[in-house]
Amino acid sequence: MKPIQVGLMGIGVVGAGTFNVLKRNQEEIQRRAGRGIAITMVADLDVARAQSIVGDGVQVVNDARAIIANPEIDIVIELIGGYGIAKQLVLEAIAAGKHVVTANKALLAVHGTEIFAAASAKGVMVAFEAAVAGGIPIIKALREGLTANRIQWIAGIINGTTNFILSEMRDKGLDFAVVLKEAQRLGYAEADPTFDIEGVDAAHKVTLMSAIAFGIPVQFDKAYVEGITKLGATDIKYAEQLGYRIKLLGITKRTAKGVELRVHPSLVPSKRLIANVEGAMNAVVVNGDAVGNTLYYGKGAGSEPTASAVIADLVDITRLHTVDAANRVPHLAFQPNTFDKAMDSLPVLPMGDVVTSYYLRLRVADQAGVLAKVTGILAEANISIDAVLQREADEVSGEGGSATVPQTDLIILTHDCQEAKMNAALAQMQALPTVLQSIVRIRKEELA
Ligand code: HSE
Repeated sequence: MKPIQVGLMGIGVVGAGTFNVLKRNQEEIQRRAGRGIAITMVADLDVARAQSIVGDGVQVVNDARAIIANPEIDIVIELIGGYGIAKQLVLEAIAAGKHVVTANKALLAVHGTEIFAAASAKGVMVAFEAAVAGGIPIIKALREGLTANRIQWIAGIINGTTNFILSEMRDKGLDFAVVLKEAQRLGYAEADPTFDIEGVDAAHKVTLMSAIAFGIPVQFDKAYVEGITKLGATDIKYAEQLGYRIKLLGITKRTAKGVELRVHPSLVPSKRLIANVEGAMNAVVVNGDAVGNTLYYGKGAGSEPTASAVIADLVDITRLHTVDAANRVPHLAFQPNTFDKAMDSLPVLPMGDVVTSYYLRLRVADQAGVLAKVTGILAEANISIDAVLQREADEVSGEGGSATVPQTDLIILTHDCQEAKMNAALAQMQALPTVLQSIVRIRKEELA
């Protein structure tokens, strides 16, 4: 049988990896798929560079719409990225009856509802394994492997750039800005690292996982997003002394009131496997009611790891494209006509309704009664303290500080409480004249 024909839009690092892995492993891939898979057309603005990657046997064009117009092409791989032209091309490819494979988490997290609806109406597949955690088959695991479970929560290190930066900060005792520069120099962080360091990339990914886990629409606009730019080496050090590491986690959790959907730095007990995921690696823990905790670990980015996920989707589509659309695995794991019901019973909760525990660091005047005042505010708010540390301040200059006032750091771990309650207590503590700097608040996840 003739190989299934694939058109590739955008041949950068991942596109080149896809081309190479498909070629290198074609025999085994064909045995798995039941049919050959051939990239026969590539669209890229730099035609000469693209042609040098794919060789003479593949048609290279500079207009992606030529792929969509080609009736021989069954599957389109979108590796352009972003919400602009990529969105138009994906919708046009769907309208032309092509199946789509994409690594574009931003596009699906923001416009997924429209794209999946268009794909369902047309009876085509939109596959996106490569959009979350690169080479880790987490979409397959959530959508199929764990399908028996009522999933309770997911917590993931799903951004390699920030995990690399946090690992370096901990190893070398350096602050964020210093490590970011080094990460950029080494190519671990992009020249404009905003999406990574502000948590947006992780939020796109956890939004997709949340939809698949709980059977709700993709709702990036409801995600709480906080990055790592304000973290300092001091807090990483104190966390370590208390038995925790700080990781940027994407978290989504089912609660009685709704779904939590959030990205922020979190203290994680050092003894958890996920706390020991270092450098640019990714890992995701999924808790299901039947299976308990499962952990998925691997490379979250890079040429061939991401190509591994893209090709897995190509194989799935090759196996399933002749199957009646109603009998395929739904795009978001749940049948789309059940989403309205889920929306009513599982709204995404505002951050004020989230319940979690906290690490607080207060730079205070080292004098009698200060600790009592702080703990008094927490007691009044019914926030229970788990542990308290007092440490001599590293340095006594800075915001609100005066070298003439003896200063100390109070580090407090709390038990679970509602975020809104914690915010109110923090405002009261911040107003104390003996609290000399902005209070550091980092959320804490036990992941038990
Ligand atoms: N920039 C991402 C990361 C990879 O650092 O993990 C692509 O989402």
